[in-house]
Amino acid sequence: MTLTLPINDSKRLQLPPLQIPTRLLLGPGPSNVHPVVQEAMNAPIVGHLDPAFLALMDEIQTLLRYVWQTDNQWTIAVSGTGSAAMEAAIANATEPGDVVLVGVNGYFGNRLVDMAQRYGADVRTIAKPWGQVFSLDEIRTALDTHRPAILALVHAETSTGARQPLEGVGELCHDRGCLLLVDTVTSLGGVPLLLDAWEVDLAYSCSQKGLGCPPGASPLTMSSRAVEKLQQRRTKVTNWYLDMNLLMKYWGSDRTYHHTAPINMYYALREALRLIASEGLAQCWQRHQQNVEYLWERLEDLGLTPHVEQEFRLPTLTTVRIPEGVDGRDVARRLLNEHNIEIGNGLGELAGLVWRVGLMGYNSRKESVDRLMKALGEVLPKTV
Ligand SMILES: Cc1ncc(COP(=O)(O)O)c(C=O)c1O
Repeated sequence: MTLTLPINDSKRLQLPPLQIPTRLLLGPGPSNVHPVVQEAMNAPIVGHLDPAFLALMDEIQTLLRYVWQTDNQWTIAVSGTGSAAMEAAIANATEPGDVVLVGVNGYFGNRLVDMAQRYGADVRTIAKPWGQVFSLDEIRTALDTHRPAILALVHAETSTGARQPLEGVGELCHDRGCLLLVDTVTSLGGVPLLLDAWEVDLAYSCSQKGLGCPPGASPLTMSSRAVEKLQQRRTKVTNWYLDMNLLMKYWGSDRTYHHTAPINMYYALREALRLIASEGLAQCWQRHQQNVEYLWERLEDLGLTPHVEQEFRLPTLTTVRIPEGVDGRDVARRLLNEHNIEIGNGLGELAGLVWRVGLMGYNSRKESVDRLMKALGEVLPKTV
């Protein structure tokens, strides 16, 4: 029997098969992934409740605890990008009316403010110029002034390239009955981070930066203190998809269906984490540090200056001041078009003032720096 239905074919695009350029991704993320991680995404799909997949979820949890240096039982990967994990941290920890104190010294501090406000928090802020960080004394004073239920800080501000020191902050928070929430999106895997030793209660990250994986499966962890606050809520978590009470029924021993996990993304995350574990976390941090120091030296050779004071510079992302009279966007455009290299332009307050160069995960290699420097040497006006 031939089926004749009144189909309107006028919007049927006839396209060639997909073709994507191969770029060297040295911007703020995503960054290129190890071939083993790329390959893992091609493994056959299994069901999200298949015993093989459930075993893989357990492995991801164990590996995440390792890269975060935590024993937190509630450690999972959220199906979504870093912002989903960020929203999960806020949604689960915040009840309407809670005082949430946010350290704002860049673009992502502002995103935390926006999210916490949407969940009904009484948001207070402390601010610093973009590229600077908060001292322990400044944090202590702000905690005493605002008496928050949660202090939220960005460990690695991708918009500025600054690393917020966290040693001692958790203790200050806990002495005052406050939880410490930390954005580790641009630090996990590439920047020393000791969650339990630093008494961090809630942390989230992404897959596409220091972990060297495509975007889409984002780590989230909660300490027993944070879980206790969640369990004592007067109100339901207002975001169904990100409610950890429900998610833990899937990630924990119940294995109750919650959502259909993006199976192949989790294969990639498992492999990316396995590669870090086989390299060794300390070695992985060391590699990021060595390669970024090489980048800083080579930038100096070209007459370029990082924006952040050396002590607080991130190993994963460097903001580089655009010299006077140079069109920063044009340089970035030419690197992409003529050399297949992506770097980032400045964001927010630093738009037009800096480039953002990422050396993250698989891309934290001397060859990446050499290729970028050769291209920059060709693209930069000769007066620099
Ligand atoms: C510090 C920080 N927090 C949060 C995010 C949001 O992550 P995503 O873009 O994966 O949603 C980013 C993204 O770059 C980031 O750099």
